[in-house]
Amino acid sequence: MTKDDIFQNLLQATQNAYRANLQMQAFAGFPSDVAQQRVMPHHCNCRDVFQGDSKLNSNRYADLQDAILAAGDVAHWRETYKGTEISDDFMDRFGCYCIIGEEAPFFSHSLRLWMVYMPAGLYYPWHHHPAEEMYMVVSGSAVFKRKGCPDEILSEGQTSFHTSNQSHAMETRDDPILCLVAWRDSFHAPPELTREPSLASA
Ligand SMILES: [Fe+2]
Repeated sequence: MTKDDIFQNLLQATQNAYRANLQMQAFAGFPSDVAQQRVMPHHCNCRDVFQGDSKLNSNRYADLQDAILAAGDVAHWRETYKGTEISDDFMDRFGCYCIIGEEAPFFSHSLRLWMVYMPAGLYYPWHHHPAEEMYMVVSGSAVFKRKGCPDEILSEGQTSFHTSNQSHAMETRDDPILCLVAWRDSFHAPPELTREPSLASA
C-alpha cells in the first residue's frame, strides 16, 4: 500500500467511526473541507510501544484501530510536552499524532483530530487548553478526570467532553487506551500542564 493509500484508508475509517458516534456528531459535524497535505514522518519511541501493544482490541472500531496502527510508520508523532517538567517515561510511552490539522496528512479549517494512545499503567497529568475537546474511546479503557466532575472509567464508544480551559487528566490501569480526540473553536494554543495545587495532588 502506498503512503497515500494508507492515509486515505485512515481518513475513511476515521470518518466512518466519527459519523457513527452521536456524541461526536453533536460536538461537531465531520468537516466537509478536508484537504490532503504533505506530512513528514517523525518517529518516537511511543510509536514502537503502540505498535507492539498486544492488549489493544476494538470490537466496534476495529477498522479504525487497524488504520491508525497502519499509519504509525508514516505519521508525524507529536512531542507536545517536550521541554516541560513531564517525565521521560511519559514522553517515551504517551503516543499522539494528528490526523487532521498541523503536521498531519489532512487539514480542515473547522476541526482538529488526533489519535491519542496510552499503554496500561500510565498517568497523563492535569492539563488544559482553550479549545473545546471531545475524546472518543476507540479501544481499551482509562480513568478520565475533569476539574469539578467525578472521575469516570470510560471504554470503547464512550466520550468525554472538556470545556474551554477545563483542566483534565487521564490514567490507565490494567488496560491501554486508544482514543480519537477532536478540538473545535480555538486552535491557536497548545495544551499546557495545569499548575494548581488542588489538582496536582489528585
Ligand atoms: Fe485535552
